[in-house]
Amino acid sequence: MTTFILNEKTVSSQAREGETLLDFIRYEKDLPGTKIGCREGDCGACTVLEGRLEGDKIIYRSIVSCLTPIGNARGKHIVTVEGLNMEKLSPVQQAMVDHGGTQCGICTPGFVVSLTNHTLQPEISTPEAAIDSVNGNICRCTGYKSIERAAISISNLLKDKNPENPIGWLVDKQFLPEYFSGIHQRLRGLKDEQAGQIQGKMIMGGGTDLLVQQPDQIAETGLDLFFDRDDLKGIAEKDGQVLVGAAATANDIMHSHILEQYFPDIKKHFRLISSDPIRNMGTIGGNIVNASPIADLTIFFMALGSVLHIRREKGNRTLPLEEFFHDYKKYDLKPGEYIESIAFPIPQKPFGFNFEKVSKRTHLDIASVNSSCFIQTENGTISHCSMAAGGVAPVPLFLKKTAAFLKGKPLNAGSIREATGILSEEISPISDVRGSKEYKALLARQLFLAHFMEIFPGMFSIKELTS
Ligand SMILES: Cc1cc2nc3c(=O)[nH]c(=O)nc-3n(C[C@H](O)[C@H](O)[C@H](O)COP(=O)(O)OP(=O)(O)OC[C@H]3O[C@@H](n4cnc5c(N)ncnc54)[C@H](O)[C@@H]3O)c2cc1C
Ligand code: FES
Ligand code: FES
Repeated sequence: MTTFILNEKTVSSQAREGETLLDFIRYEKDLPGTKIGCREGDCGACTVLEGRLEGDKIIYRSIVSCLTPIGNARGKHIVTVEGLNMEKLSPVQQAMVDHGGTQCGICTPGFVVSLTNHTLQPEISTPEAAIDSVNGNICRCTGYKSIERAAISISNLLKDKNPENPIGWLVDKQFLPEYFSGIHQRLRGLKDEQAGQIQGKMIMGGGTDLLVQQPDQIAETGLDLFFDRDDLKGIAEKDGQVLVGAAATANDIMHSHILEQYFPDIKKHFRLISSDPIRNMGTIGGNIVNASPIADLTIFFMALGSVLHIRREKGNRTLPLEEFFHDYKKYDLKPGEYIESIAFPIPQKPFGFNFEKVSKRTHLDIASVNSSCFIQTENGTISHCSMAAGGVAPVPLFLKKTAAFLKGKPLNAGSIREATGILSEEISPISDVRGSKEYKALLARQLFLAHFMEIFPGMFSIKELTS
């Protein structure tokens, strides 16, 4: 039984935990405002709000209901567009009308939910952030300029939002219906509904890979739900390492203050990964075990010398991330084992780190090729170098030979040029829908050079690195 608050009402579902929240909302609860577009997390027509208690606060996030197993709604507040309706249009709905932000209307509930999610965020609103809040929503007929103008006008209305009591302020200004004021108290009443024992069933994180790949089988099977397990969440520093729980989402990582102090560009890098709703759902554990050769989080962490802490019935084992992958979608995880966390040594300053990704469009697209690089120098010599690249082999590739070649070499254009030769021997891209093998080899080389230009700004020109 899964119990949660859907809009104003507390609801319980007997559905299997892997059935989608979207189907429950539309077909069991007869709330057709949440639309079905792609059922693959791409279009945002099915976007809903997920509110959960964190400490003494409620945190709201946007998620796509087509890829949310209903079990992941347990103990939360789920809000559909119907749950935002009041006697009059809310300022978000009104802005969409005033700026001509809707035509056929199929995408509109998703945009309204995402923009309302923006109003709920603790950060001070800016026009850029308001526009960015719809990065997971696609509109095929209105055109984005009118929606952007609506987003900017909403941002202007949020200037006086009370940071001490945002929900009270939003209710007062009729962005949210009155019932939102009582949700905190009601969620505390549901808080006991915690995830139970791990039972050796199929593991489900955010569902953003599994529910795309095998939705029908998932709906029928029993699941171990990892997404809300407190023991698998959290990002912390311990014994000289940074530990990231396997159920930490891409957005948990992107907004972690601990990680940001070592990787100041982490927000820029993670903006290249999927969209806000998908980053709110997809976990690092899922990204690694899905074993895609172009998995962005895997590539990001591989250059950092990361290890996996793998839990099994009797004790733990630890494995370097690069040794986890054996062949295409084949990896070192035995029945009954699961990833508990990923850890890497706290980087000793000075060091440089960079992540690059090329895809056909900026948001909501997987990489053609991606790459990360961690580098340290001493007196003009490369003392440590570690690199990874995706889309150039059947597995996320640790560039062992290229990095070994660079270690001990002077940091100059000649060393970097020579290393590109080793790189091209070390990779083995294949042609597919993301590009020909020649194109991917070229991309891998360009990203490799981009690392040096980003990490050592002004030191090299592209001309001297390529001539
Ligand atoms: C629209 C869209 C865009 C996307 N864009 C990107 C992108 O830009 N870059 C990118 O890298 N990925 C992208 N993805 C893929 C996906 O979001 C990520 O791979 C995500 O991190 C998967 O995590 P999850 O928790 O949702 O995995 P799930 O689907 O829940 O699980 C995936 C696999 O991991 C297993 N698993 C999960 N957690 C554990 C654990 N702790 N231990 C053992 N096994 C475990 C599951 O059993 C399953 O086999 C995208 C997906 C969608 C739908
Ligand atoms: S239906 Fe397209 S994202 Fe869910
Ligand atoms: S209004 Fe038709 S798809 Fe956006």
